[in-house]
Amino acid sequence: MQAEESTGRGRTRFAASDALRPRAHAAIPGGAHTYAKGDDQYPVLAPGFIARGLGCHVWDVDGNKFTEYGMGLRAVALGHAFPSVVAAVSRQMKLGTNFTRPSPLEVECAENLLEVVPGADMAKFTKDGSSATTAAVRLARGYTGRDLVGFCVEHPFFSYDDWAIGPTALNAGIPRDVTRLTLTFHYNDLASVAALFSAHPGRIAALVLEAARDVEPAKGFLAGLRELCHRNGALLIIDEMITGFRWPQRSAQLHYGVEADLSAFGKALGNGFAISALVGKREIMRLGGFEDDCDRVFLLSTTHGAETHALAAALAVMETYRSEPVVETLERQGQRLKAGIESAVARHGLGGHFQLAGLPANLAYACRDRDGTTSQIFRSLFLQETIRRGVLAPSLVVSYSHSDADIDQTVEAIDGALGVYRRALEDGPEAYLVGRPVQPVFRRRSPGSRLSGGSHPLAADH
Ligand SMILES: Cc1ncc(COP(=O)(O)O)c(C=O)c1O
Repeated sequence: MQAEESTGRGRTRFAASDALRPRAHAAIPGGAHTYAKGDDQYPVLAPGFIARGLGCHVWDVDGNKFTEYGMGLRAVALGHAFPSVVAAVSRQMKLGTNFTRPSPLEVECAENLLEVVPGADMAKFTKDGSSATTAAVRLARGYTGRDLVGFCVEHPFFSYDDWAIGPTALNAGIPRDVTRLTLTFHYNDLASVAALFSAHPGRIAALVLEAARDVEPAKGFLAGLRELCHRNGALLIIDEMITGFRWPQRSAQLHYGVEADLSAFGKALGNGFAISALVGKREIMRLGGFEDDCDRVFLLSTTHGAETHALAAALAVMETYRSEPVVETLERQGQRLKAGIESAVARHGLGGHFQLAGLPANLAYACRDRDGTTSQIFRSLFLQETIRRGVLAPSLVVSYSHSDADIDQTVEAIDGALGVYRRALEDGPEAYLVGRPVQPVFRRRSPGSRLSGGSHPLAADH
């Protein structure tokens, strides 16, 4: 136990983080290489830098230990430094990581991944999810000869590329002509999809969505969406960055019984190592090959796309999912966490103010103020008070390494944090929050002027 824990103030000493912060901001725009990890996403009393992780625990540079529920932006589904993955990676690293011709691991890994994607025949690997979804969009445009693409507006993030960031508030640097090519539709709303196709007949290349996020698909929605896409000559692209290797059966497409034309995987596939994939039907994917009867598409050809140690990580991950009850455990521990938090919320009478969303294996939460409006200052307070109690929870995403005891201690910590939340609803959150509140990622200017509202309550990963 850390010294500060025994003082009763909890984890409130972040001297080493505070010392490193100015250097980070001097050397890196925003002080971090991912917005979701940035200082503006956390209250002042928070660990600024994580030194190491093991299982579901991390230690910051001050030596504070946390049970964590962000899990590398949902990439680390097995747990930090998961032994069989680390062993496979280090074995491979000693054999070399990047050659002049392909490694046989590329074939093995593609064949393994295709097992979890019904209807997909081919796969191509890259390093991050954004490149994979963007490749799907380019391929769909090449295949259909159309420029427009539509995405589901309730889903917070698909890619850092222009087609996906153009319609957001953070679109400086993206030509308007590019942004105009991106349209939106609503989840579980086939009428909005039909309206989109009627408004742009013969012009939409593809629709992109997650099969599920905080809300599951209504009966017939995914099948209806697929049917509408095909009737209108467009492709269906499913982003499985989060659902892949987290949802029951390892893919949303298997779980919900839907076949996308193209889909994208990443995150949990590498358990923290950089690997992602575009998978899809041969008829479409072959445009990225050497076919001479069609115009070829330049598809995901990168220097590091198939680094062998990342492929070894993915193979070890997929083997673990085959031989151990990973998705079942994610579901069970998520349920345990959900039930514990829900009874704490009820005990504190916070039903309208602290709300869980999402499937058990992928829980997020929304913090609301006295009026029930999504609130950055209450989110900041919740983060501050859970951090104080040894829990780092930008989301409430469990891993295979979270034990019953970890979950139960977390529920106890959240119960304590919600006690402060309750009092803050009466006295005002400023009385309890140390320093400035957090800010939404997608704001045009910084520092933002809004203290509440404005961000997607589930947005956490970009
Ligand atoms: C649903 C979804 N798609 C795509 C991405 C982009 O993945 P990456 O950050 O690996 O580029 C993310 C990242 O958070 C995501 O959550």
